[in-house]
Amino acid sequence: MVKTQIIILDYGSQYTQLLARRVRDLNVYAEVVNYQITAEKVKEYKNLKGIILSGGPASVYSYDAYKFDDEIFNLNIPVLGVCYGMQLIAQKLGGKVELAKKQEFGKSILSIEDNESLLFKDIDDNSQVWMSHADHIIKMPPDFCIAAKSDNSIAAISNEKNKIYGIQFHAEVTHSIHGLKLIENFLYNICKCEKDWTMAQFINDSINEIKNKVKNENVILGLSGGVDSSVCAVLLSKAIGKQLNCIFVDTGLLRKDEAKKIMQNYSEFDMNIKLVDASDKFFTALKGVSDPEEKRKVIGKVFIDVFNEEALKLKNASFLAQGTIYPDVIESSSEGHSSKTIKSHHNVGGLPKEMNFSLIEPIRSLFKDEVRRVGKELGIKDFILNRHPFPGPGLGIRIIGEVSREKADILKEVDDIFINKLIEKKLYNKVSQAFATLLPVKTVGVMGDNRTYEYLVALRSVDTIDFMTAVASELPWDFLSNVTNEIINSVKGVNRVVYDITSKPPGTIEWE
Ligand code: XMP
Repeated sequence: MVKTQIIILDYGSQYTQLLARRVRDLNVYAEVVNYQITAEKVKEYKNLKGIILSGGPASVYSYDAYKFDDEIFNLNIPVLGVCYGMQLIAQKLGGKVELAKKQEFGKSILSIEDNESLLFKDIDDNSQVWMSHADHIIKMPPDFCIAAKSDNSIAAISNEKNKIYGIQFHAEVTHSIHGLKLIENFLYNICKCEKDWTMAQFINDSINEIKNKVKNENVILGLSGGVDSSVCAVLLSKAIGKQLNCIFVDTGLLRKDEAKKIMQNYSEFDMNIKLVDASDKFFTALKGVSDPEEKRKVIGKVFIDVFNEEALKLKNASFLAQGTIYPDVIESSSEGHSSKTIKSHHNVGGLPKEMNFSLIEPIRSLFKDEVRRVGKELGIKDFILNRHPFPGPGLGIRIIGEVSREKADILKEVDDIFINKLIEKKLYNKVSQAFATLLPVKTVGVMGDNRTYEYLVALRSVDTIDFMTAVASELPWDFLSNVTNEIINSVKGVNRVVYDITSKPPGTIEWE
């Protein structure tokens, strides 16, 4: 069983997940929890060694400031507040916070005031930290001392006796030079955490958990060829062998030779995989549909129908496995944040409501980079582990307007050339996501001495960390012209190629 040693109360900072990842990188399992957690609930964590209060966009003095159960300070568990978290500590324990006249965003230099502080052990004075705050502490809470300052504000506070600490800067971002060391000090010197979170340990524990849960029943899994479902499948297969039944649906909207490559790749794991060619069903359902959201709905529905039909054929299956990962769990449990729907992203393979399955989600506690590390440990090839993301609706949203098999075939060829060239020139792993899109536009060209009138394709490659914002990759000109030549010379039906340099925002990564 995974031991949660650290919980992070989420006040809505864009860096909360990063905090959890940093702690886990230091081999301590951390969980992100809703900020409304009560002291009573905190007590239910039997191995808890420390609590981190994240940053957040609110002001601690405003009427709609986030709630916090003060009893948490009396649990005798060390606390570290980061940015908003530090201000919350100050405000709650008798200090005062106000809007600063001089705000700090970006780089700042740390001046350590308390050289004895356990938090700053082995951290150089005058090192760079990353700030992002408008409010600051104007009155210290009693029993706290100023552990560090920046030019314009109190940068860290501490109450060594009660082990309550606050930092105004973001130790979790790499721009804070000794940030990781500070987190390490908190975990090991202050909280006395054990280093017990490793991927090998995770695999061991999950195999046991899966065996205990599944017993001699059967499990169904929709394999997509992506990282998450692959890791999930191999983990399950290590635990229950042939009791796992994978279904791979070929929608006709996958990358070139995808089904063949996936089947080849999994052959070494000796798993039950059923390949279902449902492409006719998808192309028929998509006839006459050109609205992007409508296409997503159609593809999602056909997928569920096909999947259900196959799943019902399997006897004694009482579990449905899903490759849910931790960011999905955090996202769906966060409250009070509403955002507009830009695209109704869906990952194919939702739980069929009318079917009586129990859900099994073996990797729901892992971040994406941890999923990859587990995959590596399980012997899954780089071809799968380091692939760029591929949307659930596949080429359906990369063929702008109405979708047809003919267009899908053209796009598969174009995409294949682009991706193979990126791999060949060692650029594939340098960019975050690259693909081609087929436009519903024909343009005039000249090939030989003849006029052509063929499709236009757009190549897109982006650099991003979280896929929320992205910039176009600055691919070398000769590379782009090389790829363009090869596409036009070898793909029938295309006579013009453009490269999309729009960032996100205002663009999105996919065109639909
Ligand atoms: P956008 O286009 O919203 O894409 O900037 C961000 C990331 O999400 C992927 N994407 C999808 N993934 N179902 C998915 O599973 C979808 O409907 C979908 N739409 C976009 C996109 O490829 C990029 O990685």
